[in-house]
Amino acid sequence: MSYRRVASFKTAADLRASLAQSQIDLAFDDVLTSGPNAPLAQPYRLPNGFTIGNRFCVLPMEGWDGTTDGRPTEFTLRRWRHFGLSGAKLIWGGEATAVRPDGRANPNQLIISEQTLGDLIALREALVASHPGRTDDLLIGLQLTHSGRFARPTDKKRLEPQILYHHPLLDRKFGLLPEHALMSDDDIARLVDDYVAAARLAQRAGFAFVDIKHCHGYLGHEFLSAVDRPGRYGGSFENRTRFLREIVMGIRANVPGLEIGVRVSAFDFIPFRPGPDRVGEPEPLEGKTYRYAFGGDGTGVGIDLTEPCAFLDLLASLDIHLVCITGGSPYYNPHIQRPAISPPSAGYLPPEDPLTGVARQIAVTAALKRRRPDLSIVGSAYSYLQEWLPNVAQYVVRTRQADFVGLGRMMLTYPDMCADVLAGRPLQRKRICRTFSDCTTAPRNGLVSGCYPLDEFYKARPEANQLAEFKRQA
Ligand SMILES: Cc1cc2nc3c(=O)[nH]c(=O)nc-3n(C[C@H](O)[C@H](O)[C@H](O)COP(=O)(O)O)c2cc1C
Repeated sequence: MSYRRVASFKTAADLRASLAQSQIDLAFDDVLTSGPNAPLAQPYRLPNGFTIGNRFCVLPMEGWDGTTDGRPTEFTLRRWRHFGLSGAKLIWGGEATAVRPDGRANPNQLIISEQTLGDLIALREALVASHPGRTDDLLIGLQLTHSGRFARPTDKKRLEPQILYHHPLLDRKFGLLPEHALMSDDDIARLVDDYVAAARLAQRAGFAFVDIKHCHGYLGHEFLSAVDRPGRYGGSFENRTRFLREIVMGIRANVPGLEIGVRVSAFDFIPFRPGPDRVGEPEPLEGKTYRYAFGGDGTGVGIDLTEPCAFLDLLASLDIHLVCITGGSPYYNPHIQRPAISPPSAGYLPPEDPLTGVARQIAVTAALKRRRPDLSIVGSAYSYLQEWLPNVAQYVVRTRQADFVGLGRMMLTYPDMCADVLAGRPLQRKRICRTFSDCTTAPRNGLVSGCYPLDEFYKARPEANQLAEFKRQA
């Protein structure tokens, strides 16, 4: 698979010609506008009357760097300060925060509880304090999670999965035995209560909304594909969305005034694996269709938005307006979730030009926005665009294909890219994320996440040497 590096596109015409040659449908504005009339600078009014100051959104980015009892550390604070100083006015969740200890994705994930409340208040306040200018147009939410199949609450290297159904491919890939117990309906009912309690705490911590995470293979997302699960929480679309509806009902009844958002993997593919040349290839299909991709068309590598559209209709009917669109999972098909030039070590090489992955997320988001123009939609997976990120972002927002442009990895290297774009300053090219995936490779090897190639802070840390050694061995 050969394709050009984004940094090599020196002119808009060059990029456009290359996209056309590769048949990648990705539009962008040649010229960026700054100042109060710039599309990305436009305020956005939510139905509840709150006005978000511009169209940049910081996506949730965890760092595997909390204390073992679920509190933020200096690393976490530094990252949240960067989120604040970015200039983005929508902070989607900060980072995944477990609603209870057994739902952590790693032993250093944040937990929301009475014990950690003071620390979470301080974390949010640090973000606000670092934000340049006014803060009455800054909307900050907290992402609530249970990691389900991908829970590693006590040991970074050991999965302690809590699953809703036996997935033929993922069970095999991650070593689950057929006798591994499923979460019972009673377990799920207790977890619903934990989400509601967490939402109440989030409100006390000053967060304006909670994200009931439904993405990336974690538990909320697994519900959406639980087509084989018997009982109240599986099978029909109605049953697969019961978990969400019950949490929302609980929050509405017990936490008045707290807004709710949902980040959803609106499409998914079959798990991928390294092929003979390490290039990613889909796991072979067992049977005629692949049934476990929410938003999939049954082939394992195609999209059908019928159910995601129904999901958005459901959100609207629940009076949920804040929706963040993402796709796939970092555990079994990372190239569709976070397109990158180099995979995390131990991963597979990109099976497509990563720009195809960016264009796919933008197209899905645009289709969903067309379907529900009334919802406030955030798009994801822009970081691979690098120098061209602002041009694509401006086009997407200007043409109403999304209301907000969400930024993930770019926030680790160059958080103030948003501020530079809004002010019309030239980009600082040396700080642009080049998607080397060290921010994923590091935690997969038990280290804190951060930008080791570009951020001087992480470059100088002893973990940088350890990471280099891990990569050499891989
Ligand atoms: C190091 C790292 C941590 C992440 N943490 C979270 C998280 O806590 N919650 C979440 O929903 N997504 C998380 N993501 C996914 C990002 O929010 C985002 O969807 C992804 O990186 C693609 O956007 P980008 O191209 O701007 O990076 C994480 C991604 C990375 C690389």
